[in-house]
Amino acid sequence: MKAIILAAGKGTRLFPVTLTMPKPLVPVANKALIRYAIETLTGMGATEIGLVVNSLESPIRQALGDGVNTVGVPLTYIEQADPRGLAHAVKVAQPFLGDEPFIMYLGDNIFQDPMRELYTRFQQTGAGAAIALTEVPDPTRFGIAELDGDRIKRLVEKPKEPPSNLAIAGVYVFQPAIFDAIDHIKPSWRNELEITDAIQYMLDQGHTVIPYIVKGWWIDAGNADSIVLANQLVLEQLPYTPTRQDDPRIEGGSAVSHRVILGENTRIINSVIRGPVIIGDNVVVRDSYIGPYTSIGNDVIIESSEIEHSIVMSCCTIRNIQGRIDASLIAENAHVSRAQTRPAAYRFVLAENSVVQLG
Ligand code: DAU
Repeated sequence: MKAIILAAGKGTRLFPVTLTMPKPLVPVANKALIRYAIETLTGMGATEIGLVVNSLESPIRQALGDGVNTVGVPLTYIEQADPRGLAHAVKVAQPFLGDEPFIMYLGDNIFQDPMRELYTRFQQTGAGAAIALTEVPDPTRFGIAELDGDRIKRLVEKPKEPPSNLAIAGVYVFQPAIFDAIDHIKPSWRNELEITDAIQYMLDQGHTVIPYIVKGWWIDAGNADSIVLANQLVLEQLPYTPTRQDDPRIEGGSAVSHRVILGENTRIINSVIRGPVIIGDNVVVRDSYIGPYTSIGNDVIIESSEIEHSIVMSCCTIRNIQGRIDASLIAENAHVSRAQTRPAAYRFVLAENSVVQLG
């Protein structure tokens, strides 16, 4: 069975990080977001995945290639140069999908639920579509479903007056009838071809659309806060692993708790690490504290600083910071340090849309 992952968005809510790195490559627990999508889809039974990207030169393609050797499933790249809506993305992917049922997954979504039951129910009921739903506190921000027993009666995208608090989460299964529905819809107020409108068209034509209520957490990892939260939720799932007292990577008076994963050639010197924490390869942590829910990429140096509940991507340095760094997303090659010379002033070299908050 084929699946598509929609990864052609501009990622504006995550600027400046996404100016150089597409959102699906942002690491959560040191693994790119898109790899969670791919794992969920292969777990649901996908044997071929189409990635809808905004350019065939996308860094996603450079990172994952044809998929067989990187993620164990063949990947086809589908260009949607102008992201004109989720339904538009499906239309662009139609030649790849052919005339079979398929799964659609929004590339910045991450679930605790393996979603296998969603696909099984779709098969068992022979429905026109099946949609993952989850309760949200702020239903005006999502596509919202109104149920009639075990079926969906009505769908509305980002309603001003929501008929329920059941939001469409980012996984859908469709019969090929969705293509005809897409041909019949018009762009919405935000000038996008909405998949929600296409599914409503299917309902109007008499197709059955069934709900599947997601188990556990779901994150639409659109902005920095939600990515940091996704990192926490994934790290919370790390199994118990005791730390070996004779681990050569732990040196000079360090205290490393359980549920701490250390990469190769990494050195923890005179530091305290309290898990759950994941630290990549070739990292040096010296005279520092790394607290719970922190992910640190490869080739990072942290000296005389404290950090927790944060993501630090590869090749960063953090040195001599007073006070604790918390709830932060620090992209590749970023350098944070305290001036060693006078004046003891704040000095910033920031990209557009950067956020700096001093405690
Ligand atoms: O996150 C769940 C919500 O996702 C649903 O509740 C809504 O019903 C659904 O319309 C969608 O709303 P958003 O406004 O949050 O979608 P967004 O524009 O953020 O796009 C979701 C993903 O799809 C994102 O990874 C980028 C990708 N995308 C988006 C568009 C508009 C594409 O690949 N192509 C596109 O044309």
